[in-house]
Amino acid sequence: MSGPHDPPQGQPAAQPEASTEAVNRRAEVLPPNTTQASLLAAAAGVPKIRMRGVKKAFAGKVVLDGVDLEVPAQSSMVILGGSGSGKSVTIKSILGLVEPDEGVIEIDGVDVLRLPRRDREALGDRIGMLFQNGALFDSLPVWENVCFKLLAQKRIGRAQARDRAAEVLAQVGLAASVGDLSPSELSGGMQKRVALARAIAARPDIIFFDEPTTGLDPIMGAVIDGLIVDCVKKLGATAVSITHDMASARRIGDQAAMIYKGRIVWEGAAATLGHSGNAMVDQFANGEREGPIQMELRR
Ligand SMILES: Nc1ncnc2c1ncn2[C@@H]1O[C@H](COP(=O)(O)OP(=O)(O)OP(=O)(O)O)[C@@H](O)[C@H]1O
Ligand SMILES: [Mg+2]
Repeated sequence: MSGPHDPPQGQPAAQPEASTEAVNRRAEVLPPNTTQASLLAAAAGVPKIRMRGVKKAFAGKVVLDGVDLEVPAQSSMVILGGSGSGKSVTIKSILGLVEPDEGVIEIDGVDVLRLPRRDREALGDRIGMLFQNGALFDSLPVWENVCFKLLAQKRIGRAQARDRAAEVLAQVGLAASVGDLSPSELSGGMQKRVALARAIAARPDIIFFDEPTTGLDPIMGAVIDGLIVDCVKKLGATAVSITHDMASARRIGDQAAMIYKGRIVWEGAAATLGHSGNAMVDQFANGEREGPIQMELRR
């Protein structure tokens, strides 16, 4: 898979020319988890995330069949596709929760699949994830859920974590008192917002949102969309979101990509969804039964 111009393993792909002043200026508006290396990579135009030929099969069933995707730094990408098309598996592959069978995944130009485990874990500290099913820990109160990573890594003390949790809960429209409840005492929409708060609490450099607004009322959905946009525009994070909600996709995405039969079949501006000129994308975005996409209803 590698070519003569590929960088050595674990090294950034390019030697960027960026002035220290420019980097420092950007550092003020970027989240603390952004490393100097990632700032330099962004300044050199290296994509934040790059997937090439990523393949994954489960028990002989091909799910990813050569995914190629690039997400520029500090941008927001939306991934579309039918249920079971491999959207969550794509994100989990970048996160390191699913090990691809083939292909290359680079973050800031670094080949993550070939990094030593410790370096890969360190990279994970810079990534936030909102899981499709929330995945909150019922045995912990909400505030500990929200600051779970920061506490587990002893990056902050418990008193500080309570304050940080209250701050992030406010961002997702929840009162500080919710912090003392157990996730099982919350409505589905509240759990979603707590999961979102947990995804952003450590101010990650890259954030994955898997169905961030599913199950929320339309107004709360719009609030959450605004928050995702803020993470990118104000904090300088890079966001990759999976959504079936086209209004939301247009609001949060700079770019959109569609996955079908294990490959990315279209990429374009999220604003064009529904009138992109690509029959598959427009069928999907407009929810039309007839069109080139034949849904597999039996699996
Ligand atoms: N850990 C796993 N073991 C076995 N099969 C898996 C695993 N994870 C995913 N799959 C299979 O891979 C396929 C794609 O799953 P994925 O979760 O990526 O779908 P999706 O595009 O996110 O769908 P949805 O929109 O319904 O969430 C499915 O057929 C699923 O059963
Ligand atoms: Mg999914």
